[in-house]
Amino acid sequence: MPMVEQIDSSAAADRIRASGDAEVATYLEIAEHREPGQILTPAPNAPETVVVLDYGSQFSMLITRRIREASVYSELLPWNVAPEKLNHLNVKAFVLSGGPASVYDEAAPQLPDWVVATGLPILGICYGMQLLAHKLGGAVEPASSREYGHAILDVGEASNPIFHELTGSLPVWMSHGDKITKLPPGFESIAQSQNAPVAAMADNAGHYGIQFHPEVAHTPQGDQVIQNFLFRVAGCAGDWTASSFVEESVEAIREAVGDGKVICALSGGVDSAVAAALVHRAIGDQLTCIFVDNALLRLGEPERVVSTFRGHMSINLLHVDAVDRFMGELAEVTDPETKRMRIGETFIRVFEEEAQKLGTVDFIAQGTTYPDVIESASTGSDATVKIKSHHNVGGLPKDMQFTLIEPLRNLFKDEVRRVGKELGLPDEMVYRQPFPGPGLAIRVIGDVTAQKLDILRRADWIVMDEIKNADVYYDVWQSFAVLTGIKTVGVQGDFRTYGECIAIRCVNAEDAMTADWSKLPYDLLAKISSRIVNEVPEVNRVVYDITSKPPGTIEWE
Ligand code: XMP
Repeated sequence: MPMVEQIDSSAAADRIRASGDAEVATYLEIAEHREPGQILTPAPNAPETVVVLDYGSQFSMLITRRIREASVYSELLPWNVAPEKLNHLNVKAFVLSGGPASVYDEAAPQLPDWVVATGLPILGICYGMQLLAHKLGGAVEPASSREYGHAILDVGEASNPIFHELTGSLPVWMSHGDKITKLPPGFESIAQSQNAPVAAMADNAGHYGIQFHPEVAHTPQGDQVIQNFLFRVAGCAGDWTASSFVEESVEAIREAVGDGKVICALSGGVDSAVAAALVHRAIGDQLTCIFVDNALLRLGEPERVVSTFRGHMSINLLHVDAVDRFMGELAEVTDPETKRMRIGETFIRVFEEEAQKLGTVDFIAQGTTYPDVIESASTGSDATVKIKSHHNVGGLPKDMQFTLIEPLRNLFKDEVRRVGKELGLPDEMVYRQPFPGPGLAIRVIGDVTAQKLDILRRADWIVMDEIKNADVYYDVWQSFAVLTGIKTVGVQGDFRTYGECIAIRCVNAEDAMTADWSKLPYDLLAKISSRIVNEVPEVNRVVYDITSKPPGTIEWE
């Protein structure tokens, strides 16, 4: 199963090989006989990798995604990464991303000599193309007018492999201020646009430059260009799949762990569940999972985690009841950040104590994923800006005596889900909506008590139940209830009541950095509201949150 199912790239690569096309055969031959030589030492068991060097474009990560969608493994690395850092990979080609600089800026990020010296194919995109031209002896100058947005690319008869199956005029998306005014020796211009006489260029040694962005949806045939580069130029096999990932990871985990002991904290979320299942596949009973019940989970959640992992997956699981301890730490705390801090610290303390009871433990497995890593450190390049610190990466105490195993560190969320499926985890767990580490504590506004949590849990369960009944659970990013802390006057039966007000929060999002409130059908909202006021007697009012992010956040605290 490919990591992304819609493209059967492996078959595409085979078709290309079998086509007997002489030009392609030459490229494949070049690709197969390249000698990265002394510069890179490919790891024997690593998957074929295309390295995207990051020059600061907002689309850099998207290039990596597109390559992976074609079943070729890809990593986004800073443009100034040391070549030794690539020795765990089996690099087949480089892509140079776009970026905000101009090649003539004093501090402009450069194309390192060693990248060219590997002899591997290089695809420069936008700034990456200008960099390639600049490096290999061409000239780049400011264009008289900036080309930004939709443009038409003329590829003529398109005899070049990078434009295989593409001819004539193609809609593309451009964003550049500089243009190439002189081709480097050995290159020819292979496409033009209105403002860029050299909108694409190529030589005979596997160097390609394209001024447009193939990675964005506004370039409808962008995937074809990327696949042409991967399969027709770089000779990739397109065999990176969820099952190949599991196979490689299992081997790597076994080798790293030996007969050591591993622990893993389970939160009930997708990432830690998949990490645990993967480590379990590799080393079986050498893994012990620790599940801390912090009193802040949704209705029935602790039971579900225990039954899935202990029952369904037969994983050693320690179920720690820390309800009283967390409630003690949260008593009378109203400030959201203090809540988060207390919950985080208490979790670490409980976890350490439990780990100590297990005797010597050598490793701790965590479900850190690629966006966590990128968000925490950016790619380490000075061409992009750090976005935010992430609890998963920085949250462990410095004196913990474990070695960290992060088997999902290089995967995007959808890839983690596919690996989860491959490992046999139930859909209910693999496709669940995100749930915050501090749990219901940041959905009870004000101080957290057992009674408030109980009210929220019952209301929240109804929201979830109706969202699932209406078949929109997988269409929305998150859907939940918030206990607002406001008391309002109502009339229930013949009585005046003074009860709790529940807010329903339901958002659509791509990545939680921005979000929009979901336009749920009125009938569905009416049903949720009616059930909550009828089934949760403490509540007499239900409101729907219609704030986008920004300016709101998804959680209320
Ligand atoms: P906000 O509220 O910042 O949330 O728009 C964005 C996403 O992050 C989740 N979230 C958290 N997750 N620890 C977590 O593990 C936290 O402290 C935390 N705060 C918010 C939130 O549920 C949403 O998916």
